Amino acid sequence: MSSPVDLLIKNASQLVTMPAPPDRPRSGGDLDEIGLIPDGALAISGEKILAVGPTTRVLAQVEIGPDTTILEARGQTVQPGFIDPHTHTVFAGWREAEFSQRLRGVSYLEILQAGGGILNTVARTRAASFEDLLASTLAKLDQFLLYGTTTVEIKSGYGLNRADEIKMLRVMEAASQLHPVEIVPTFLGAHAVPPEFQDRKERYIDLLTREILPEVASEKLAQFADVFCEEGVFTVQESERILSRAQELGLGAKLHADELAATGGAELAARLGAISADHLLKVSRQGIEHLAKRGVVAVLLPLTSFFLRAAGFAPARTLIQAGVPVALATDFNPGTSPVQSQALTIGLACLKLGLSPAEALAATTVNAAHALRQGDHLGSLTPGKQADVVILNAPSHEFISYRFGTNLVRTVIKKGRIVVFQGRLKLKGRGDGYEP
Ligand code: NIG
Ligand code: FE
Repeated sequence: MSSPVDLLIKNASQLVTMPAPPDRPRSGGDLDEIGLIPDGALAISGEKILAVGPTTRVLAQVEIGPDTTILEARGQTVQPGFIDPHTHTVFAGWREAEFSQRLRGVSYLEILQAGGGILNTVARTRAASFEDLLASTLAKLDQFLLYGTTTVEIKSGYGLNRADEIKMLRVMEAASQLHPVEIVPTFLGAHAVPPEFQDRKERYIDLLTREILPEVASEKLAQFADVFCEEGVFTVQESERILSRAQELGLGAKLHADELAATGGAELAARLGAISADHLLKVSRQGIEHLAKRGVVAVLLPLTSFFLRAAGFAPARTLIQAGVPVALATDFNPGTSPVQSQALTIGLACLKLGLSPAEALAATTVNAAHALRQGDHLGSLTPGKQADVVILNAPSHEFISYRFGTNLVRTVIKKGRIVVFQGRLKLKGRGDGYEP
């Protein structure tokens, strides 16, 4: 025995450990191996997990001192913090009027082609000051934390010029200094063709590859680059040009692929050795085989399909059977998924993608960590991993999907620190309200 532990959670009715080999995400039949421990306990020292196991064993293993915080978790489920590997969290304004338009039958791409959609948010994000964007981003991060999400990937892509793309990435950088939610920044300058380049797409790609990407890379403002590879937006060839350049500059590649039409986005993601291919509603059989062969993570976004009233959902079961590692994300953005809850993603993944509650939980924790190249220290509750932990007011993990729509999160621990307690934020200087 060494020194007393800082925090001990004990008697959890279920402790979900999500053990995984650190070097790869789960695929195939491994996806539902979530490492359940009944009557479980977890001990934290500093920012890391020290011990995990049945309560009696952990109590025998660790030292408890006068300063140890003890959380009794009887009747509750303990799991890794949710990781959201695909969001567009930094934006100004909402798009509720377009939502009404879509309900009347106008399509998402029609709205974009008429200068709305992403371009609507681009105009408002360009007009917003750094301070206003930062304040609204922090409020959104508060909401993520209340839903149990402890790490989020955030994409730029509402600036679409040098200054405003950099402004968005600097907002992410500042927010991660001020807020416990960890941010993984992705450069999505190729989210749409900006209005001032409407008939000169090639020139915009030149600007991205020659000026903006090199600056983003040298200033270390993003870990990944992404492209909206879609009919009427960026072609496979254009996406390849942008992402190969990003890779030359040391960024990892991600891709919005095969969402509205089968363009060969998945094949491109595999060819590039991208870390993930996202959406994939229309992915081809060949695309699935290529993803499996290269171990590209498929990030599925069922909230977006639901919110866009798409004809179908991504072929999750086929992807899993083919051996593609599957992760799940909210896609949080003002146009196609104004929703931040990974518990809701899990509910839809079970009801609409055919995942089991266990598979969906693995896809929002350990596999989501791998979709961000963070699987070595995030996504599981095993000794040595970062102590990002959620306690749910639920006797079993099935309750997340079964009672979807209800926020069951009671306590959230980030890097060993309690940041949500009894459903309320415990952050210095921050309220527990959510101002849109
Ligand atoms: O992933 N498809 C492109 N990007 C987002 C939508 C962004 C927006 O509509 O503002 C998505 O669905
Ligand atoms: Fe997206």
